[in-house]
Amino acid sequence: MKQLTGNEIRKMFLDFFASKDHLIQSSYSLIPENDPTLLLIGAGMAPFKPFFTGKMKPPHPRISTCQKCVRTGDIENVGRTARHHTFFEMLGNFSFGDYFKKEAIAWAWEFLTEYLELPKEKLWITIHTSDDEAFEIWHNDIKVPAERIIRLEDNFWEIGPGPCGPCSEIHIDLGEERGCGKPDCAVGCNCDRFLEIWNLVFTQFNRDEAGNYTPLAKKNIDTGAGLERIASVLQNKRSNFETDLLYPIIEYAAKVAGVTYGQSPKTDVSLKVIADHGRSMAVMIGDGVLPSNEGRGYVLRRILRRAVRHGRLMGIEKPFLTDIVDVVTTIFSQPYPELNDKKAYIKKVIQLEEERFHTTLAQGIELLNKHILELSQAGQTVLDGASAFKLYDTYGFPWELTEEILSEHNMTLDKQGFDQAMAEQRERARAARQDSEEKITIPDLSGIVTEALSYQPDTENAKIVLLLKDGKVVTEAFDGDEVAVILDVTPFYAEGGGQIGDTGSIISSLGKMEVVNTRKLPDGTIYHLGQIAEGSLKTGELVKVSVDYARRRNISRNHTATHLLHAALKQVLGGHVNQAGSSVDNSRLRFDFTHFAPVTTEQLAEVEKLVNDVILDNVSVGIIETTQNLAKEMGAMALFGEKYGERVRVVVVDGFSKELCGGTHVAATAEIGLFKIVSEAGIGAGIRRIEAVTGYGAHEYLKAQNDLIKEAAAALKTRPEEIVARIDILNGRVRELEKEVSTLHTKLAKNEVQDLLTRVKDINGVQVVIGQVAATDMENLRATSDMVRDRLKSGVVVLGAVSGEKVNFVVMATADCVAKGIHAGNIVKETAKVAGGGGGGRPDMAQAGGKQPDKIGEALQAAEKVIQSQIK
Ligand code: ALA
Repeated sequence: MKQLTGNEIRKMFLDFFASKDHLIQSSYSLIPENDPTLLLIGAGMAPFKPFFTGKMKPPHPRISTCQKCVRTGDIENVGRTARHHTFFEMLGNFSFGDYFKKEAIAWAWEFLTEYLELPKEKLWITIHTSDDEAFEIWHNDIKVPAERIIRLEDNFWEIGPGPCGPCSEIHIDLGEERGCGKPDCAVGCNCDRFLEIWNLVFTQFNRDEAGNYTPLAKKNIDTGAGLERIASVLQNKRSNFETDLLYPIIEYAAKVAGVTYGQSPKTDVSLKVIADHGRSMAVMIGDGVLPSNEGRGYVLRRILRRAVRHGRLMGIEKPFLTDIVDVVTTIFSQPYPELNDKKAYIKKVIQLEEERFHTTLAQGIELLNKHILELSQAGQTVLDGASAFKLYDTYGFPWELTEEILSEHNMTLDKQGFDQAMAEQRERARAARQDSEEKITIPDLSGIVTEALSYQPDTENAKIVLLLKDGKVVTEAFDGDEVAVILDVTPFYAEGGGQIGDTGSIISSLGKMEVVNTRKLPDGTIYHLGQIAEGSLKTGELVKVSVDYARRRNISRNHTATHLLHAALKQVLGGHVNQAGSSVDNSRLRFDFTHFAPVTTEQLAEVEKLVNDVILDNVSVGIIETTQNLAKEMGAMALFGEKYGERVRVVVVDGFSKELCGGTHVAATAEIGLFKIVSEAGIGAGIRRIEAVTGYGAHEYLKAQNDLIKEAAAALKTRPEEIVARIDILNGRVRELEKEVSTLHTKLAKNEVQDLLTRVKDINGVQVVIGQVAATDMENLRATSDMVRDRLKSGVVVLGAVSGEKVNFVVMATADCVAKGIHAGNIVKETAKVAGGGGGGRPDMAQAGGKQPDKIGEALQAAEKVIQSQIK
């Protein structure tokens, strides 16, 4: 058996399959492209689904990759077994309608036994119960003894809807001492003795959304070998965590926690969880995932929080995750050097999320303590599932933590109730996801030679290669039909890289189509969407094509300006600024970027000026086609999570910006005319958005602003340049008037008080003042009441006042009257009731409102009756 590092195994695998005529591709992003059925890439085959189904042609019939994968179905097992991970690397070789079982089996065997030199006698094979063909190959060609070929019913591999089929797994026997010792321990046992190291899937079916299996026209091969598992075998380690692909993280975490690995099973679990989750979070963020409460953002958040919790279990109270990124990037410096380039950014995202969790952790603990107090007061010991779920869902509180804290108080958690609440939430989330998922259907392109199609900016004539109506291939479409059209050559630029698709028309001798959008399939095939406006179009017909170039030019202005904005933001705010999304159309541009504080007005002004300086310098914009490596050497900015082909296109604005981009651009910056930022705002944790306009859009924007100022000036009866001075004068005048009104109110109230005091009634020896006054709100009404009561010294005051659509009442009684039985609260309640309202209050003072101002007189009369009834 060879002794190899993780890097050596990865390289040896890919070199081996390159020697078997496979095209070697770098790992795809963890974020699936055009596949709403998947949250994250969880298998090497996932990015290749359309190649397996035959809907799209692969660049080569044989491909091999080492794919970054994330699976969280077994997250609870991570750290508890030798082989479970959330993040792992899958080595795979794929055949798209090319070789099948015979070669796949022979090559897997050759690689394992001759290249890695694994002992043949320790390898066990599983096949699907019905797969005699696989049995024959393993037994007759490879010479594996029949007793080491096991037939299993569940040897069938699938991942959601898509390509799937029976499979054959290769397991290695790591020796009895690694086993559970049970008499029936064998291949497939959950213990650590038999380790599955490679799965060969004979992909021959396609599963649809409804769960139907249809045989594929061509048979394929999809294989997956876990790099970490193979490394554990070759490095003779008891678990994947002790290999060079993970152990450095364990060492780091052990150092921070001040513990030693291998001394306590509990601590070891925490160290392993941190090692696994540390790799997951770094790679996910590197591929453009940000923490959130939904979808893949939630997966990331959960992983990160579990890591924090396991840190706490070992006594780490302070944030500690950011430094793990250094360890992870070092481990992955060979296969994923881009992680290192994004290190500062990845750390920042982790730092913010970790700090945030520490805050919610404190809030959650407070809430949990409250529950504990309530339970102990009620003499109970079980926390209900719904409360535990709220802690989990709202405060990001892992249930194990809840359980642990409860156990310190001799309490437990209703885990079943918690699981139930969790299941309900999952169901809600699943339903919501299904509602919002855009169903992307990839048309069947198997009938056309897609390599022969091309994009040529100056083309005027083309031929219709494919017509689609309602997603189905047709040979002719008529006026009114919504269609998608593929041309042999097109000048239409397809939506992509944030740039909107071109519009225009396709004209045949007998018909015309209005193109409302142009899009691209994952293999680059361009298609035009729109409606047949006149006559009909036919497959094979020659057509005239014309793009709306005025619109395209506006789009190009905005696109080049987006690059200038990106570069200017980096200059002004710092190198941590990265594009997080962009959208460029003909009327405006929108740019989302990573930045962790609001952008100040001064910074924004500086960015705007920098961009306009470059525009006014009229710098020429160059397009360079080159290799990815050369582009990198040139210092061109690449975008997060984007996967570029070997040949890339770099857009260069001399001395200012270099960016990988496939979009359309102006020839020189002065064409942009003017760049004006319209808005800047935060749109999520660490992400900000700028919207801006250029060229005609900027002109329109400025004109609209100017018109607004003119309108405002006219309304203020002044000239535009006098607006501010005029507003200052008006504001001063408003303040003066407010003062005057207030003085008048006080005067008026005093007069009213005088007047009321002349109308004091004696009811059974109690002095009562009842009346309507002009107070505009409750506060004024109370002030008037206060004055009357103070002047009365002993008595009851009931005042009402109309305030707009409503009526207010206040009742006050002096202490001696309260002693006689007066209750202001009860008086106001009965009074307000008459005017359609309610209210109440203390015996000495109460207030209420009503909705029927016209009933105020009647209401005040009712008050008198209540007073009479209170003093008998
Ligand atoms: N797609 C197969 C797996 O993930 C190879 O196991």
